[in-house]
Amino acid sequence: MTQTATYRVGSNIAFIKYWGVADATINIPLNNSISMTLADAYTTTTVTWDVDGRLATDEVTVDGERFAPKKAQRVVDHLDRLRAVAGVNYRAQVTSANNFPMASGIASSASGFAALTVAGCAALGLDLDPTRLSAIARRGSGSASRSLFGGFVEWEQGHDDVTSVAHQLYTEDHWDLRDIVAVISSEEKKVSSAGGHLLALTSPLAEGRRDHVDGWLAEVRRAITERDIARLGPIIELDALAMHSVMMTSNPSLLYWQPGTLTILHAVQHWREDDGLQAYFTIDAGPNVHLICEADTAAEVETRLAQLPGIERVIVSQAGPGPMRIFEDQT
Ligand code: DP6
Repeated sequence: MTQTATYRVGSNIAFIKYWGVADATINIPLNNSISMTLADAYTTTTVTWDVDGRLATDEVTVDGERFAPKKAQRVVDHLDRLRAVAGVNYRAQVTSANNFPMASGIASSASGFAALTVAGCAALGLDLDPTRLSAIARRGSGSASRSLFGGFVEWEQGHDDVTSVAHQLYTEDHWDLRDIVAVISSEEKKVSSAGGHLLALTSPLAEGRRDHVDGWLAEVRRAITERDIARLGPIIELDALAMHSVMMTSNPSLLYWQPGTLTILHAVQHWREDDGLQAYFTIDAGPNVHLICEADTAAEVETRLAQLPGIERVIVSQAGPGPMRIFEDQT
């Protein structure tokens, strides 16, 4: 007998970033973060628990690649958390597929660990609310805590599994924003986010960012409430630059940008100054640039990006819903 469930979960792009941990053992962040869940960049994960004890180990396959034990460890650690919640010791078979390339600058850990959490818990017959699922997902990957909800989402810093959880600010219908990702390089990054979070406090600028971030969070909440791109944009650029300043000045230094990154940042500034084009950048832990704009500006942004050198591909997504269960006849 097996117990199985499949879920599709969107990734998310942060407007105010999670960077740095206050408590690394349970992924308590240094600050709250706010993100938009993505409709068009998602992970579909099936978890099947082996209740008859046929499997010798957990089996993890991502985008068609069967993970060797070392690569599978982070997933196995998360399965251990689910087993602990349910009080069982079944092994599991996990099959996961992203509809976007893993090294595209879209966080596969966010959608991946959120999907693993919801599918794994559902397959165990656990009836947990999204807040509880958010706390469990957070242990696997910080940004995954936000993908438990659709639309516009805030993850409260908190201090334990009850308080460090995400909640929805607005549903995906509230504001038709687009995330247009200019992929500069799809090379795997040398330092993972997980490693980078541990370095944040070695930067002399980390304290400075922390001193300002509460004000920026308030501005972003207000901009989303009022659907005001001219208020939102400058703050998300400021926080992305502040986070990258922390990264660059940590020890060792994390320099994720490539020449192509800077080309886009300059271009976007010129498009705004010269033509009033309302598009604003944000950058995660990599060289690729996300441009945030309203729906009616997206086609123009795409046309202009196509004229810039050094862009491998462009991926466009709108705001999306929370986790969706997929039944066999839908796959
Ligand atoms: C720069 O959530 O990917 O994208 O907890 O190690 O999986 P892990 O880190 P992760 O870090 C996200 C960092 C970021 C900013 C953000 O999404 O808030």
